[in-house]
Amino acid sequence: MVLSSLLQSRIGSSSSHRPPGPKGLPFLGNLVAFGRDELGFITETARRYGDLVWLNLAGWPALLVSDVEAIETILVKDHDNYIKHRLALRHVKALFGNGLLTNEGESWRRQRRLAAPAFAGQQLLAYDTAIVSLTHQMLDRWTNDQVLNIHPEMMELTLRIAAKTLFDSEAEWDIADIDHAANDLVTEMESRFKRPILIPDGVPLPGHLRYRRAIRTLERVVSSIIAERRASGLEGRYDVLSRLMEARDEMGKPMSDALLRDEAITLLLAGHDTTALALSWTWLLLGQRPEIQARMAAEIADVLGDRLATTHDIPRLKYTESVALESMRIYPPAWIIGRESIGTFKLGGYAFPAGVTIFISPWILHRDPRYFAEPETFRPERWMGNLAHELPRFAYMPFGGGPRICIGQRFAMMEAVLILTTMAQRFSAEWQSGHKMTPFPSINLRPMGGVWLKVKDRQTRH
Ligand code: HEM
Repeated sequence: MVLSSLLQSRIGSSSSHRPPGPKGLPFLGNLVAFGRDELGFITETARRYGDLVWLNLAGWPALLVSDVEAIETILVKDHDNYIKHRLALRHVKALFGNGLLTNEGESWRRQRRLAAPAFAGQQLLAYDTAIVSLTHQMLDRWTNDQVLNIHPEMMELTLRIAAKTLFDSEAEWDIADIDHAANDLVTEMESRFKRPILIPDGVPLPGHLRYRRAIRTLERVVSSIIAERRASGLEGRYDVLSRLMEARDEMGKPMSDALLRDEAITLLLAGHDTTALALSWTWLLLGQRPEIQARMAAEIADVLGDRLATTHDIPRLKYTESVALESMRIYPPAWIIGRESIGTFKLGGYAFPAGVTIFISPWILHRDPRYFAEPETFRPERWMGNLAHELPRFAYMPFGGGPRICIGQRFAMMEAVLILTTMAQRFSAEWQSGHKMTPFPSINLRPMGGVWLKVKDRQTRH
């Protein structure tokens, strides 16, 4: 009884004037249904109850928002009233520290100002050589008719690209250590997201011990790269870390070593996992639809022939870019974005207290028939016309929006198009439907069971 009334008071006494939502269990509310099948649950509740759905997650009041104007209010107009979700952040705070992804307030603003130039200038364009040549190195290992799971291939490739472009590092031991640590982190995140309860990091579960060991490994690698860079100087260096080390705030102060460590780990992990997932989902869809793959390959052959792709070719690879956009519509790697209100707020005629968890789900928005005809169908052509400009701003948001929009958006799109192009120049792929694959909503949307493809050599030689 006591627990029940405590939970009720957490939800708030005026809960009669709340948006509609599914009735939950005593005490646990909607937590069990949500935890059992997150994607199914949010899709079904949004369909049934509308654009504002009121949820009770074991006493935590939560609001699932799918109204594009309300999303704009939260992420842009009133963004100061919302922070990243504290509970979700506890899973990753030890890892990302005060890096951009998890930082807040004035400290976040300063970091974002310092980091922005590294992702904005012409410099970005020069990473094409590294992206294309590392992709060729991966393809050199593949053989005609080989059956492979593309997801680990994409993870390794985007990791190598991140190490090269962020740190100018190709050292095999760095890559192997980072790869190992990143895999342990992903495995631990998956099991944390499957667990209905939050177990503090200090509890010595085997997964927690692996998690801490992985963090130590990343810290060691990143610290040694930073120390090496300090010793050798930044002259002639064009990687992102060097840009961050050179950056100065208005008072002329550089980033501290602790912040550099947090930022380097954040960029490394935030950048490579999401991009690898976007590419894996794209190859699943391309493997299932040979006619779309053929049209993409034809565009690439037309624009490039046999020559290597550069960033200057991207504006002419319109269909290939549309394939990437459409794949992130159907399978957005960042399938949900979480916030928490720090003050009271009003939405859709309802008044809400501080401390409400807000869920915004690109997965739901991108499948909304109000914005996308036949939303379940993979149809890259829809992006060939004016759709991107005609849609409401938050109907399509694979990179988020507002001041906290993905800092790596331009880099990720460039990387995705160059990798797709280079791969399609050399291989075609058939999806192996015998391997079961299920979309699994961990921190990012993962293809559980893998994306198995049979690859066929196109006989192109460079
Ligand atoms: C297809 C690839 C990518 C996707 C789908 C993606 C998605 C996102 C999304 C949705 C957010 C906003 C999260 C929120 O508002 O809560 C975000 C933030 C962020 N992303 Fe990405 N991202 C991708 C690639 C990258 C790359 C390549 C980098 C860096 C190299 C990167 C670094 C970051 C950082 C640092 C933030 C936090 C920005 C801030 O809060 O100031 N991402 N990303």
